[in-house]
Amino acid sequence: MTTINENYLKLKAGYLFPEIARRVKNFSEANPNTNIIKLGIGDVTEPLPEACRTAMIKAVEDMGDRATFQGYGPEQGYGWLREKIAANDFQARNCDIDASEIFVSDGAKCDTGNILDIFSRDNKIAVTDPVYPVYVDTNVMAGHTGKANDKGEYDGLVYLPISAENNFIADIPSQKVDLIYLCFPNNPTGATATKDYLKIWVDYAKARGSIIFFDAAYEAFITDDSLPHSIYEIEGAKDCAIEFRSFSKNAGFTGTRCAFTVVPKTLTAKVSDESDIELWKLWSRRQCTKFNGVSYIVQRGAEAVYSDTGKAQVKKLVSFYLENAQIICNQLKRAKFKVYGGVNSPYIWLKTPYNLSSWDFFDKLLQTAHVVGTPGSGFGAAGEGYFRISAFNSRKNIEEAMKRITTQFSM
Ligand SMILES: Cc1ncc(COP(=O)(O)O)c(C=O)c1O
Repeated sequence: MTTINENYLKLKAGYLFPEIARRVKNFSEANPNTNIIKLGIGDVTEPLPEACRTAMIKAVEDMGDRATFQGYGPEQGYGWLREKIAANDFQARNCDIDASEIFVSDGAKCDTGNILDIFSRDNKIAVTDPVYPVYVDTNVMAGHTGKANDKGEYDGLVYLPISAENNFIADIPSQKVDLIYLCFPNNPTGATATKDYLKIWVDYAKARGSIIFFDAAYEAFITDDSLPHSIYEIEGAKDCAIEFRSFSKNAGFTGTRCAFTVVPKTLTAKVSDESDIELWKLWSRRQCTKFNGVSYIVQRGAEAVYSDTGKAQVKKLVSFYLENAQIICNQLKRAKFKVYGGVNSPYIWLKTPYNLSSWDFFDKLLQTAHVVGTPGSGFGAAGEGYFRISAFNSRKNIEEAMKRITTQFSM
């Protein structure tokens, strides 16, 4: 008889975005002529930078010529892309990261889940609450948790609450944790981390032999020069952190798919006989076995992000979304909403008005303003009473959505 991985049965039935889609579908079926503006899911809307498109068109031509045709590429990514990533994203910021420590992949989402393959089930795992749900659900699937309680908190995970009370910055846990997920600029709250704050975590991790999973998928949105773009800007991080990056939100690659993970060669963890092993070797082994690399065409597109024209076009794209975020923040503040994030981040995190629950506010916003956002409680129990609005949309839609929200909810 065939049996299944029963950990999947522990997952909460309605994952956030399908539930949002269900409610939106019901509403639009009942109100077919309504123009709904979606500021929920964090997907980009603006076209790919021209530099990336031109590079990909050229790469398609390469594939049509026997002399330049490419078959299977290196599982870790082509050297020419990894060299550019290392030079531009790390060495230019004085981070001592070598191209060989970079693993190109088809997404930070899969990497943040797949990384669990190389760690044992015995680790104590900490996540913030609210949090990007993928970190939690992949741990549930891997059997690292017990069942969820009524609030959706899984037994066995250590939740670090973040709210307006602690400026959305998690306190260091009193107990020892082995794996810690940090995401800055943060999804969903839009909070950022200073170097001093990250140093506290790096010191904690180094002292206890813990590993930090640092998700910097929104790094490109940082405009404040004092804020770190990479955890490797913090002394000692190479000994305790793995960093996840993506081309999804800076260069609009959500549908094109390219990302990378940095596993420094100095990073080790314990074998059960108390010896140390390099995580780089394990991740390399895992990727070479289970992954066959990102397409040549897409990697050429990602490489173009680092050309002079590519850099200028990506900067323009990011600035466009940041201006959207600014408009959202200004309009919501004018209507007396309590608003967080939205600076150095494409996400605006707001306190729901009139003490509405996150889902009640979702329904009210949909029914009265015909605008879709994301209920904070979908990101964790401590997100209850909050709501996420994304700046990824056209200027016209952002302005129209803000007009509708401020008309309906002026307090
Ligand atoms: C925090 C965070 N990490 C990773 C991802 C996924 O990135 P990718 O498109 O590279 O899979 C997202 C996407 O929304 C995200 O919010």
